[in-house]
Amino acid sequence: MWLKQPGKYRGHKTMFVLLALMVTFKGAECQSEDPPVVPVRVNAEAGSLVTLSVLFSVADDAVVKWSMDSLTVATWTLGSNVPADVAGAHSDVLRLEMDGSLSLVDVPLNYSQNYTVVFTKSGVADAQAVFELKVYERPVGYPECSVHATVSNDLQYRCQWPGSYPRPSLAFPSVSNGSVTAGVLNLTLAPSEGLDWKTIVCRAQHPLLEASCNVTARQPVEFLPRVGAAVDPDGRIAVTIECLSDAVPDAMVTWLRAGQAVSSSNQHQISANTTQLTVRHFNISEFIREDFSCICSNPLGNKGRTTRLLGPSISDSSLLPNQEGTAVTLTWEVPPLSLVTGFDVQMRGPALDETLQRSGEFRSIQVKPGSARSAGVLHLDPKSTYHFRVIPTAGRMAGEPSTQNRIGPGDGLSGAAIAGIAAGIPCGILALLISTALIYLSVSHCRRSGQPRYPVSRAVEKAVASQPDSALPDYNKLHAPSELSLAVPKFVPPPPVRTATTV
Ligand SMILES: *[C@@H]1O[C@H](CO)[C@@H](O)[C@H](O)[C@H]1NC(C)=O
Ligand SMILES: *[C@@H]1O[C@H](CO)[C@@H](O)[C@H](O)[C@H]1NC(C)=O
Ligand SMILES: *[C@@H]1O[C@H](CO)[C@@H](O)[C@H](O)[C@H]1NC(C)=O
Ligand SMILES: *[C@@H]1O[C@H](CO)[C@@H](O)[C@H](O)[C@H]1NC(C)=O
Ligand SMILES: *[C@@H]1O[C@H](CO)[C@@H](O)[C@H](O)[C@H]1NC(C)=O
Ligand SMILES: *[C@@H]1O[C@H](CO)[C@@H](O)[C@H](O)[C@H]1NC(C)=O
Ligand SMILES: *[C@@H]1O[C@H](CO)[C@@H](O)[C@H](O)[C@H]1NC(C)=O
Repeated sequence: MWLKQPGKYRGHKTMFVLLALMVTFKGAECQSEDPPVVPVRVNAEAGSLVTLSVLFSVADDAVVKWSMDSLTVATWTLGSNVPADVAGAHSDVLRLEMDGSLSLVDVPLNYSQNYTVVFTKSGVADAQAVFELKVYERPVGYPECSVHATVSNDLQYRCQWPGSYPRPSLAFPSVSNGSVTAGVLNLTLAPSEGLDWKTIVCRAQHPLLEASCNVTARQPVEFLPRVGAAVDPDGRIAVTIECLSDAVPDAMVTWLRAGQAVSSSNQHQISANTTQLTVRHFNISEFIREDFSCICSNPLGNKGRTTRLLGPSISDSSLLPNQEGTAVTLTWEVPPLSLVTGFDVQMRGPALDETLQRSGEFRSIQVKPGSARSAGVLHLDPKSTYHFRVIPTAGRMAGEPSTQNRIGPGDGLSGAAIAGIAAGIPCGILALLISTALIYLSVSHCRRSGQPRYPVSRAVEKAVASQPDSALPDYNKLHAPSELSLAVPKFVPPPPVRTATTV
């Protein structure tokens, strides 16, 4: 705090002002050692405690007088019992210290002034010093960089750091010599390959701190559309396609259906951010008949994608039993572009409830929402054999069942294997087997209930709806999605064998 050591003073009759500055910020303390001849510059943050600190070598009985500009604001005789005289208008802020230093408490912005201190003592010359105090407001947070697309498809780089006094100076030094002290700097550049993936830095300068931010524009990347389906309360199927391509600035998406531009209408709805197209229709054939395309673009480029949606389908399924064989977890996958609003989990085997003896055919045991990819089945008899399958649905339309998964003792013999073995089995045993099977079948036939059921006949299996139970149109006659997505001409007469099994 001492600017000059006492031993260095020249002449014993001279009175010295020893000046030191102590500026207290919230977390830091600065000291300056400027000589008192020229104003000593002090930068302070608004709201902090600032002490304009002086040290007077022969302080006893000296009178200290502080002025703001030419207005006297505080006087005191050092060491006296009489309190310091501080101008009433400033008494909230100014405080005289025991050694004659002046403190500014919670300093407001408008205390940026020149402060003069004069020490007077009879017999010695007056001593004086001047401080030039600058009070600043610290900017809030940090500067923020962003880049936007303009209506003319240019890139507008923006740097902002609002809310401080004085405003920080903002510049993009690597691309422009210009700078502003306005809180926001806009710089519009024509898109060019050179700007793709180029990081643009904004430098922000303020008397109390410096900071920078940066932003990197880039063209849309390759992406995969995502598809979701739901059933509206009015029974329409709402299919949402999302095309989200990572890009800066955000890509705008244009939509095409069968090559024609799509605009929002009763049937088509494009989200405000353009990334989602929702199509609504009662007939799912509407969705799987035509191609949908989306093009994601920003000023630096675009990426497009054309998709053909699939009807309800299951790409893979598996079954995981617990150790005791009393419970299984079924899991399944759905192709990415398949429209599914629900799943019907079906089982064939002894009834879970012993009062129900049906076992010969698949019956629905659980209905799962379109988001489900697994189902748990409990209370199985480890000594019995069960078959499981999952049928994907979209509204009232059902897709092809998943492959069957089997659990139970034995080898899981297929129908063909049973036939092969049967051929070699002695007639007596065969007769026994056949009669058992007949009893079995007749029992199960008698106990059929109205539960949702999908005929397993091969041809129908491809596109079957659950049984109609309301006034809604019945779409049982829909074409299978797999048939539609194949490039097979329609109305080709099927081979006689298949025709026979259809009916
Ligand atoms: C600063 O502003 C306040 C309120 O605006 C006022 O009361 C005060 O006198 C001003 N102080 C100075 C030093 O100008
Ligand atoms: C303080 O003094 C300096 C130098 O004499 C002058 O340039 C500046 O304008 C003064 N500041 C105020 C707030 O009066
Ligand atoms: C900045 O100005 C200098 C001199 O006028 C010029 O040479 C330079 O290219 C400018 N830089 C940019 C980024 O505009
Ligand atoms: C920067 O651009 C934004 C959006 O176009 C505008 O609102 C703002 O006024 C502009 N600021 C300046 C300083 O040009
Ligand atoms: C851009 O900003 C990030 C985070 O603020 C920083 O890590 C990175 O170093 C900056 N890059 C450049 C080139 O300044
Ligand atoms: C776009 O809008 C949709 C619907 O409002 C919303 O679900 C989606 O999250 C938005 N996407 C982005 C990238 O903001
Ligand atoms: C659904 O659309 C397909 C193809 O356009 C058509 O063949 C079928 O008859 C329609 N079904 C109903 C119930 O309208």
